[in-house]
Amino acid sequence: MSDLTFPLIGDKAPEFTATTTHGPINFPGDYKGKWVVLFSHPADFTPVCTTEFMAFQKRKAQFNELNAELIGLSIDQVFSHIKWVDWIKDNMDMEIEFPIIADHGAIAEKFGMIHPGQGSSTVRAVFIIDPKGIIRLILYYPAEIGRNMEEILRVIKAFQVAEDKKVAMPANWPINDFLGDKLIVPPAKSVKDAKARLADTSINCYDWWFCTRDQ
Ligand code: BEZ
Repeated sequence: MSDLTFPLIGDKAPEFTATTTHGPINFPGDYKGKWVVLFSHPADFTPVCTTEFMAFQKRKAQFNELNAELIGLSIDQVFSHIKWVDWIKDNMDMEIEFPIIADHGAIAEKFGMIHPGQGSSTVRAVFIIDPKGIIRLILYYPAEIGRNMEEILRVIKAFQVAEDKKVAMPANWPINDFLGDKLIVPPAKSVKDAKARLADTSINCYDWWFCTRDQ
């Protein structure tokens, strides 16, 4: 255990300015009104990280369609990032079009991307930050397991549908093994509400605390 503190779900994301492969960025100022996927990787020129960057790049347009921007980060020099993305372009025929932060450790520490038991590199962390700058999801993956970008896209879509329709999302949304494509009505906040639910013909309740509705 350590006494490090770092932001959690629901907290305002820390502000930072950074050197990146696309020049300096200022967060949140440069990303106002956008969803941001800020993710760290252990090091440039490593195989799992290379597959992750290519997987993010392949889906960049899908993230952008959701009003989301990708930002990578590791504790490497910007020259290393530049050589690495050049290598990916030359050898894998893929241009990495999102910025990669060259951090000295200060941003990684603010976000809790360095886990002392895992050495001095950043772990595979993902922060999904909403257009108001609030951290909505945090993922940590170990060095030997590459992340699933479809899941990161799924979560952003799920947040947007949940907010729009005032619902919650079941396991494996958009298709749950038991509920199919039905959405979950958030828990009742009063006894009156709970009773009203059971009489509401527009929703289907297994019980007062477990109600679903069509999309
Ligand atoms: C990789 O990306 O392949 C990797 C990075 C750090 C440790 C182990 C694997």
